Amino acid sequence: MKTACVILAAGEGKRMKSVIPKVLHPVCSEPMIVYPVSLALAQGWDPVVVVLSPRGEKIRQLLEQKFGDRIRFAVQDPPLGTGHAVLSARKALASFRGQVAILYGDVPLLAKQDLDALARAGRKCQLAFLSCHLDSPDGYGRVLRDHRGQVTGIVEHRDADREQRRITEVNAGIYLLESSFLFQALAKLGRTNSQAEYYLTDLIARARSQNLPMQAVTRKSGRSMLGVNDRVQLAQASAQMNLRLAEHWMRRGVTLIDPAHTYLCPDMKMGKDTVIDPGCFFSGRIRIGAACHLGPGVVMADSEIGPRAEIKAHSVLDNCRLGPDTSAGPFARLRPGAVLQTGASIGNFVEVKKSILGRGSKAGHLSYLGDAVIGAGVNVGAGTITCNYDGMNKHQTTIEDGVFIGSDTQLVAPVQVGKNAVIGAGTTVTLDVPAGALAVSRSRQQNIAGYARRRRQAKK
Ligand code: UD1
Ligand code: CA
Repeated sequence: MKTACVILAAGEGKRMKSVIPKVLHPVCSEPMIVYPVSLALAQGWDPVVVVLSPRGEKIRQLLEQKFGDRIRFAVQDPPLGTGHAVLSARKALASFRGQVAILYGDVPLLAKQDLDALARAGRKCQLAFLSCHLDSPDGYGRVLRDHRGQVTGIVEHRDADREQRRITEVNAGIYLLESSFLFQALAKLGRTNSQAEYYLTDLIARARSQNLPMQAVTRKSGRSMLGVNDRVQLAQASAQMNLRLAEHWMRRGVTLIDPAHTYLCPDMKMGKDTVIDPGCFFSGRIRIGAACHLGPGVVMADSEIGPRAEIKAHSVLDNCRLGPDTSAGPFARLRPGAVLQTGASIGNFVEVKKSILGRGSKAGHLSYLGDAVIGAGVNVGAGTITCNYDGMNKHQTTIEDGVFIGSDTQLVAPVQVGKNAVIGAGTTVTLDVPAGALAVSRSRQQNIAGYARRRRQAKK
């Protein structure tokens, strides 16, 4: 049977106390909303409709950028509750007949197994929803059952009496139901409750009164059903997701010295025997080869490192690419467009931006390499700086294979240093250097005999 999906993300998220829409808050560096949307698409549900408030423009932009035209949008204006939100998707599903899955945008830990269980139940009845037992069910809607154990309805925490609040079975907010029943029942919802909202959860009691075949799919663990309403739950969701990602990678041969203090992200690939020290932080699209070592406190965003790369403590990598057998750090900074080819290395306090460091080339200490193309086997001495910016424009430095650059050199771009040339320490290179030449621009040294003694005497 065809299944459509509606994902609710139009709520105000008041409990977050934030100017940022709740579902854009990150869980493991990825906006919360991305998780249910990815899951729905992976399930093959079509169409997937995301319900936004008129203030949800940023959410729409993000999702369009990530998923293109694979999702549709509906606007709920104003937000009058979860039932009203689904009703707002009616137009987007006008020609659709079949089952509709409903997910909440603030349940990021939901797993494929949960949805598979829901889909199995959905084959046998007309309304299925996920529930679980929680030790502290506060805040969640409670599942009401009659003496035979049949579900009779859901009561929201705020509307529940003391007796009902003792119920530990909660509604996860994930449903699968017939489109015909859904929209006819939604049209009849009232809002006589503590929040004067149209509750989607009232459909359960309605289904019961119509004797509609219905099932609560009670999951053993409630771990994946955490709803994020405030920042405490946001931190809990991140920690849970992180642990899930950590276990995934440890089972595939990656050593995490301290998984709870290694901050992973969902779009990651890592090879076997890679070792990651505590305090590393990953975001975006990460690719790490086999047998790499990342020292403590490495920050890595949208970057790729080849096999056997060694990233030493406290290095920061952003949008860069490091080949096999490269090394960086400690305290190296690789900014967007930095490329280290096979075997190249940069040491402490070296910053590289939009530059290529060729095979086996080295910049060991305290340098800035920006807008530079550096060939193979080049040695960049300590304190070397490419002066790439003249206050208005950026210019390129080209350093060919085998060049030796003495310490404390400035290369005033645009400038080119030919193959195997040697630059004397302390040189300011303003003119191109021919291949094989020595360039020195510092003034000749003078030694003045007895100077120090005369100076001391003059002071007395
Ligand atoms: C909801 C459920 C509750 C369940 C819990 C699970 C209802 C009435 N209650 O409560 O039974 O245990 O989730 O986490 O459904 N939203 C809209 N438009 C609105 C209101 C909300 O799109 O007008 C969206 C929100 O953006 C959010 C989701 O719906 O993604 C859930 O809304 P929220 O206010 O967080 O509901 P809960 O109080 O958590
Ligand atoms: Ca919620």
